[in-house]
Amino acid sequence: MKIEGKEYRTIWFENNTVKIIDQTKLPHQFIIKDLKNVNDAINAISTMEVRGAPLIGATAAYGLVLSIIEKNDLSFLKKSSEDLIASRPTAINLKWAVDRMMKKLLGVNSNEILKIALDEAKAIVEEDVSFCQNIGLNGLNIIEKIAEKKKDTVNILTHCNAGWLATIDWGTATSPIYHAHKKGIKVHVWVDETRPRNQGANLTSYELNEEGIPNTIIADNTGGILMQRGQVDMCIVGTDRTLSNGDVCNKIGTYLKALAAKDNDIPFYVALPSSTIDWNIKDHKKIPIEERNSEELSHVEGLDKNNKLQKVLIYPQKSKAMNLAFDVTPAKYITGLITEKGICEASEQGLKGLFK
Ligand code: MRU
Repeated sequence: MKIEGKEYRTIWFENNTVKIIDQTKLPHQFIIKDLKNVNDAINAISTMEVRGAPLIGATAAYGLVLSIIEKNDLSFLKKSSEDLIASRPTAINLKWAVDRMMKKLLGVNSNEILKIALDEAKAIVEEDVSFCQNIGLNGLNIIEKIAEKKKDTVNILTHCNAGWLATIDWGTATSPIYHAHKKGIKVHVWVDETRPRNQGANLTSYELNEEGIPNTIIADNTGGILMQRGQVDMCIVGTDRTLSNGDVCNKIGTYLKALAAKDNDIPFYVALPSSTIDWNIKDHKKIPIEERNSEELSHVEGLDKNNKLQKVLIYPQKSKAMNLAFDVTPAKYITGLITEKGICEASEQGLKGLFK
């Protein structure tokens, strides 16, 4: 998708280096950063220079390529794979991508391992692009139907950033929106700010602006009243881990939005590529929920009056804060799952019907 009119992807490989857009600097600075070794990749994931489930999976895949370039040695590769998986706990794509890479790489001759690793990492990236594109085409049908019935702008609420910046291109939740916009359907997006890291305001609104899609940032608690007033036609969010029973683990606050949508009879869709499905964990309480540094809550960063980035404390100095990064939305609150293979019910039957 575009930034200042130029097409970008979120990650690419060039001259033995992985290039990323540093998302901790957006929207105020656009910086392309080089990842030169596996530690750079681990650091980029844990500090959220790259974030979003599919993108951290792709970064981990390229991280293994960097590990081989650094030291073509099996025990180093195994250690790299463990460290990459540990770099963030909740999104399943990280382990999915590392496992897929290691399955290809174990037992391979050291003369050809780099080429095989690079080909597989590129395959993961290309597959994500085509999956996200298909998610868009499938989700477009839902938006089209609402637009035909309403004969007016379709108002869509989204949470966090499940946009192209969270994937390689297109995004998951945003892909149906981009496809609708390209088809000439009038859409407007309510963007949850998504405290504490503000991925909605800093990333979703930013990327929608760059594509010319009307959007309005709202405080995370505003969605409920907008739904009561009839100003939301549908919600679409992403997911970091989807259980086989249809429960969805996504950015903290998703659950509360789903409850409000249910209470107001508003369709609540979750968009995902199959790489986000966890077929093993059956009970959502077993999902590792990331708890991040409380400084993400107590401090905010922004431009001061001299256009300089500043970080300031906004809480009482003596207060404690807790920063859980994800929550779980039970399947019963989800209208449907929009996947690369079609739309299904959020249930074991629905998912197995498409994927097994
Ligand atoms: O903590 P983040 O920014 O990595 O969280 C991202 C989300 O929760 C997204 O909604 C999710 O990864 C889906 S991305 C297509």
